[in-house]
Amino acid sequence: MEQQLRTVRESQAERSEIIFPGDTNSLGNLFGGKLMQFIDLVGAVAAYRHARAILVVTASMDGLDFVAPVHVGDLLILKASVNRAFRTSMEVGVKAMVEDPKTRALRHVSTAYVTYVAVDGTGTPVPVDAIVPETEHEERRYADALRRRESRSGEVKRKREMRKQLAEDWHV
Ligand SMILES: CC(C)(COP(=O)(O)OP(=O)(O)OC[C@H]1O[C@@H](n2cnc3c(N)ncnc32)[C@H](O)[C@@H]1OP(=O)(O)O)[C@@H](O)C(=O)NCCC(=O)NCCS
Repeated sequence: MEQQLRTVRESQAERSEIIFPGDTNSLGNLFGGKLMQFIDLVGAVAAYRHARAILVVTASMDGLDFVAPVHVGDLLILKASVNRAFRTSMEVGVKAMVEDPKTRALRHVSTAYVTYVAVDGTGTPVPVDAIVPETEHEERRYADALRRRESRSGEVKRKREMRKQLAEDWHV
């Protein structure tokens, strides 16, 4: 099937959360793992919208930075956009921010780059459409996504080899 061009805007996703005590540690700060879950979910929405596939799966999450803590009662806003689509995979950038309800000013708390792969009903990767960046920011993210993919690919190969070894040598 011929690859079409899709804009970043078409698939952008946003999620809002109010942080409750059940998701925080004894200091009243949001657990990192919970924030990763929110990041993964909002990123997956952008990837689904772009891929228009039956399913997208998370292949990796990298460049994950917890810049500042998120406190109980905070209004957390997460924004996700597809930085670049490759053959079957897409790099989605997610930015998490806390909104001041009085001024609506946003404070940056976390950023991550998540790679999703579009798959069919059997879990086999399927091709996705290409992204056409429209703005200066989108062009920068598009170029950066290729650089990150190149540095990631060596690591993906290295991990594949390591997994083969582990399957043979792994002892609990
Ligand atoms: C992601 C998955 C489908 C890739 O399968 P695979 O056999 O490696 O498939 P391929 O080698 O054909 O690679 C398919 C694409 O995935 C990308 N990919 C594979 N592993 C990757 C990784 N660790 N990080 C980033 N991209 C990765 C490849 O670069 C390729 O992208 P491209 O088609 O755009 O060039 C497979 O590893 C999988 O199903 N993993 C589990 C996913 C899951 O359950 N996620 C939820 C976590 S609990």
